[in-house]
Amino acid sequence: MSDLAIIENAALVIENGIITFFGKMQDIPSNNYTEIDCSDKVVMPGFVDSHTHLLFAGSREEEFAMRSRGFTYQQIAEQGGGILSTVYKTRAASKRELKKNARRYINKMMQYGTTTVEIKSGYGLSFDDEIKMLEAIKELQKEEIITISSTFLGAHAIPPEYKNSPNQYVNLICDKIIPYVGEHKLAEFCDVFCEKGYFSVSDSEKILSTGISYGLKPKIHAEELTSYGGAILAGKLKAVSADHLENISDEGIESMKANGVVGVLLPGVSFFLNHNYAPARKLIDSGVPVAIATDFNPGSCMSYSMPLMLTIACTQMRMSPEEAITAATINAAAALNLSNEIGSIDIGKKGDVIILDIPNYKFLTYHFGENHIYKVIKNGTYLEF
Ligand code: NIG
Ligand code: FE
Repeated sequence: MSDLAIIENAALVIENGIITFFGKMQDIPSNNYTEIDCSDKVVMPGFVDSHTHLLFAGSREEEFAMRSRGFTYQQIAEQGGGILSTVYKTRAASKRELKKNARRYINKMMQYGTTTVEIKSGYGLSFDDEIKMLEAIKELQKEEIITISSTFLGAHAIPPEYKNSPNQYVNLICDKIIPYVGEHKLAEFCDVFCEKGYFSVSDSEKILSTGISYGLKPKIHAEELTSYGGAILAGKLKAVSADHLENISDEGIESMKANGVVGVLLPGVSFFLNHNYAPARKLIDSGVPVAIATDFNPGSCMSYSMPLMLTIACTQMRMSPEEAITAATINAAAALNLSNEIGSIDIGKKGDVIILDIPNYKFLTYHFGENHIYKVIKNGTYLEF
């Protein structure tokens, strides 16, 4: 993760959206290209934000204020805030409204250098509303230039109607929603919030296994609020990624490592909620592939700035700038099963690159809170903002 393979005085050629050459300027194959002068700038792969909940209605700024008065995330949820408050608003919104909100966020993200984003459902929590969310994501996939991965997160919280019969909600997910999502190819991944008060390890296993049988690859929100066992399950199911991991146990780390599960760390959540950070050093030093994402959502991280996440990863989780960049590009692509298409500058990969107006890559994490993007190139095309 520490080796970025930097090339000074470099050139990069993109043809028909695909990278066809990179190397020293003097080795460039021919001169018949439209040229972009990148002198005194840094060119790197676009960021891959592998964990977001960017499709939602409403906002939760009151919760932010409550936390500054000392209330915890769990206390706020118990008082009617939290995930369910966004669920009510998202249920009331049309697909069109949801897409309009999402489009605004997506445009901003791209301006910060994100060229691929994962989006989860999970604010519908009923058959109709979960499908509404996934259909909205599918439409955005076709309409937007950014690459979008879609994740079914029906198991994000127990909906109010099933408060006293949570097992029935798990059955609804397994018997009705997942089969529909799988058959209509509405998502690539299935995710579960495996946590005390949300979904137990055995419910999570049941849901993710059902997902697997319908072609949905497993992901999991694990060990966020308590050390609960989700990371061990992730290894057992050979999940593509286990995300959060703030309270992961040594056994969880072993299980992930042994099964090649990517650990997606979300430093913006710990920062925003004033929670403990995931043990990034321990994970990396144990050989777990680590990615960084925003978790952009209205409750636990209202930021879609990947560069900000990288700086927080360096200062609070002791990752090096090089590790943070790897975590936000190629490892993040691996967290979406896309590492042979995107995430690095390589022949045959998509021409998704960002040009930064900084003298060297170390300025990316060092000069923080500033948008250093000079140009974003997606599939070989300049984006105009
Ligand atoms: O990833 N942990 C569960 N889900 C989200 C929070 C969503 C919300 O608060 O609306 C997360 O942090
Ligand atoms: Fe999340």
